[in-house]
Order: sequence, then C-alpha cells, then structure tokens
Amino acid sequence: MEAFKNRLDQQKIPQHIAIIMDGNGRWARKHGKARVFGHQSGVESVRSVVEGAGEVGVKHLTLYAFSTENWERPQYEVEALMELLVHAIENESELLMKKNVRLSAIGDLLKMPRKVKEKLDGSIKYLSANTGLNLVLALSYSSKWEIVNAVKTIVAEAIEGKIKPEMINDTMFAQYLNTAGIPDPELLIRTSGEYRISNFLLWQIAYSELFFTEKLWPDFRKEDLFKAIFDFQNRERRFGKTSEQLLM
Ligand code: FPP
Repeated sequence: MEAFKNRLDQQKIPQHIAIIMDGNGRWARKHGKARVFGHQSGVESVRSVVEGAGEVGVKHLTLYAFSTENWERPQYEVEALMELLVHAIENESELLMKKNVRLSAIGDLLKMPRKVKEKLDGSIKYLSANTGLNLVLALSYSSKWEIVNAVKTIVAEAIEGKIKPEMINDTMFAQYLNTAGIPDPELLIRTSGEYRISNFLLWQIAYSELFFTEKLWPDFRKEDLFKAIFDFQNRERRFGKTSEQLLM
C-alpha cells in the first residue's frame, strides 16, 4: 500500500496536533528492561514525529512530556525523566535548528528543576527565530491547573478594575491559558491503547478529533503520525452542525 504520507491532502493538514505519549513503561517491561529504558526509547519517537510533522507542514505539535500527576511517581523515575529531558534538549537542539523548529513550553515551569529550566530556556531562545514547526512541550502540566490559574488572573484583574464580567467570553478566556496565541488542536493522539484524556488540554480539545492507537509510544514513528492525519482527513468535522449544512 502506498505510504500514508503520499495520500495526505496537503490542503487539510491539521495546524495543531497534540499527543499523549503513553506506554513507555509497558514497552520497557515487554523488552525485559527498567521503565527508564522505555522513556529513553521514547525520545527516538519524539525525534521521528517532530521530523514528520515538519515534513507535512503541521504548524504546532504539543507533546505531553510530564504531567503534574507525574511528580507522584517514584523519586528515581522522576529524576531519571528530568535527566533525560536535560540530555534530550541538549542533544536535539542542533537537529531542531537544522529542521527550522521553534521550541516552546506550557505548564507550571517554575516547578521544573533548575537544570531543566535553564536548558529549556536556553534552547527556546536559541531556536526562537525559526519559522517552521512550533514544538510545544507540556511540562509539569495539567489542564485543571492551567484553567484555575487563568481564573485567578482574571479575578485579580477584575478586582483591579481592568476587566468587567461582561468582557469574559471563550475567546477572551483562551488568552489567559498557556496556549494563548496557538490555535486549538484539530487532532489529539494517544498511544498505548488507553482511552483517557488525563488532564490534558481540556479546554482546547473541545472540538478536536481523537485518535487512539494500541502502539506503545516507543514504537510510534512518523508513519504512524501520517496514518493518524490520514484518518483525521477522512472524518467529517461538523462542529455541532448537520452534514447538509456543511455542504452549503
Ligand atoms: C508515559 O509513559 C510517558 C511519560 C510519562 C514520559 C514521556 C517522556 C518521553 C517520551 C521522553 C522525553 C520527552 C521529550 C519531549 C524529549 P508511561 O511511563 O506512563 O508508560 P506506562 O503507562 O506503560 O507505564
């Protein structure tokens, strides 16, 4: 069968794709290795998917790399993930530069260890003039945290008299989220056969198409991304309207 990439409609490439990268631990167990090995292998999937997204012209790719809830994992796993992030950012920055990829991050970044934060800030700055794919890493991220934070800021500004209740609507609210300025993802992918959203982009995925695959994250490659985009392109997005209305 012809590769999914060649079958994609270039006019209907999602601008923003979000991915819940799941199954690293199970992948490692399957290979008789420690969980951390699964995370390490997951970095290769990240590289492949970033490359693939850039190739077909996706504008924003958001990866759920570390959730607020992940802080509850055993300390050695959290530390290993932080080390991995430092190394991945360090080792991949040159390739990201070559591929014209910009980097950004969402989440409670002040909670990240100083070493991660410094590497991240450095790399974000280094890649800031790039004009290709915007790679968004969700780190210490949870959607409820993000929404509550937005509410706190809005309330504070209301108390200061800068905002009136009637000024609040969904467009305005979205400007107070970490994803301000980025269009909502048209497509959300989750690997590893789990059918959950896990506190990820709850506001932003109101009308996203959801794509679930049994593949574990370390087995996921750009060809799987193209398959998900192909599947997305063959769905009818009605946004609450009828099929007939879409033809008008
Ligand atoms: C979920 O698998 C994955 C994570 C919590 C971490 C994801 C991190 C990476 C892929 C590596 C670093 C990322 C970047 C952007 C460089 P799991 O551990 O929950 O797997 P399980 O459900 O099988 O236990």
